[in-house]
Amino acid sequence: MHDDDGYFDERVAARYDESEAEMFDPAVLDPVIDLLVEITGSGRALELGIGTGRIALPLAQRGVPVHGIELSNAMVGRLRAKSGGEDIGVTIGDFTTTAVDGTFSVVYLVFNTIMNLTTQAAQVACFRNAAAHLEPGGCFVIEVGVPGLQRLPPGETIRAFEVSENKWGFDEIDVATQRLTSHHFEIVDGTVERLSIPFRYAWPSELDLMAQLAGMRLRERWSGWRREPFTGDSRQHVSVWAKPPPGHVVGQ
Ligand SMILES: C[S@@+](CC[C@H](N)C(=O)[O-])C[C@H]1O[C@@H](n2cnc3c(N)ncnc32)[C@H](O)[C@@H]1O
Repeated sequence: MHDDDGYFDERVAARYDESEAEMFDPAVLDPVIDLLVEITGSGRALELGIGTGRIALPLAQRGVPVHGIELSNAMVGRLRAKSGGEDIGVTIGDFTTTAVDGTFSVVYLVFNTIMNLTTQAAQVACFRNAAAHLEPGGCFVIEVGVPGLQRLPPGETIRAFEVSENKWGFDEIDVATQRLTSHHFEIVDGTVERLSIPFRYAWPSELDLMAQLAGMRLRERWSGWRREPFTGDSRQHVSVWAKPPPGHVVGQ
């Protein structure tokens, strides 16, 4: 890690919205916000890894009270600089352990951010922390890629995920440890900048088991925010686990 802001330090935060411009496109964002508004209902939403407010700001604009937990002061600084950004509560801390006041009808963790937790123990802790913040019947929503192992050439451990005029990215995958390092190279002001971030990938079934350990059970799994069916060809999933009402034991 670089400093207390983790991998999302000032250098990354300064360019985040520009580098991820396609993720801010209304065609990408609108279905995310529509589904989160629907699932949150009249309750509150908690975003783990709120970042620069890509999701939280439009969600708040739709009338959903949103709170965030975020490790990086630099990312939150960018959120604060945006219109409406000062009105969103953020607790600085690690979302595997940080507690905030009150309960929520939805806790959500998007854009592969569960994979930023590089051990199974940390991912389990994240599920437990999410469940601890949910009211009975509340939902934990995750958007994350499906490990792309079947697209790895036989015997290879490296897979390109982006090749464009100014950006190149490839994943270095270790199937023995489920660790993956994403290497990003981008030309910025005529210079090639590199950012390499470690991840831990997990199959959907492993995430279901983490949810079960945290007292939740799977309610829905789609391949996208428009409720597209999840199949063997899906490259990502949007999964919804629910915390059952008191007295109901998960797994029975
Ligand atoms: C890929 S960005 C996503 C930001 C935002 N959710 C979005 O969709 O644009 C991941 C964010 O999660 C934060 N993050 C990663 N691990 C974290 C942790 N353990 N605790 C709190 N924040 C974390 C990073 O600092 C970063 O802002």
